[in-house]
Amino acid sequence: MTTLNTLLEGRRSQPQQLVEVLQDLQDLHGYLPEDAMNTVALELGVPLMEVYRVACFYKCFSLKPRGKNVITVCTGTACHVRGANLLIDQVQGQLNIKPGTTTEDGLFTVECVNCVGACALGPVVVQNGSYSHHMTPGKLRKMIDTTRKTKKEASHEQAQSKR
Ligand code: FES
Repeated sequence: MTTLNTLLEGRRSQPQQLVEVLQDLQDLHGYLPEDAMNTVALELGVPLMEVYRVACFYKCFSLKPRGKNVITVCTGTACHVRGANLLIDQVQGQLNIKPGTTTEDGLFTVECVNCVGACALGPVVVQNGSYSHHMTPGKLRKMIDTTRKTKKEASHEQAQSKR
């Protein structure tokens, strides 16, 4: 099992490894826990302020726990003029959360970004790294319903196999 200790193996006292270590930490926990960031600063020999600066600079890092599914709605100019605000309304209505927050069951986190680099295909939604283009509120509703159903079935099967 991967732990922070194993992540740091061979990287201690190597400040240039900071971004890679934070990426691995993000993959491990789904976010960057405060105590782990302190340890990374100490072990790599990087000022804690610099660790936070890097963590806040890159959109791929989160300082708060995220849901199992991260839905990112692009609200950049090209997507905005093609109806990104309708997609925000859809997720807010369907999941009952605002962008930047996570559902109570921990299944979904919704985020907004300014551009994901696929402007010609907008509006764009990214779910767990997978891009969906020319998105409509109806397609988004189906995507969320399908994800919810798939996760429910997976946990049901998991519960059955434990019996
Ligand atoms: S503005 Fe949405 S992909 Fe560029």
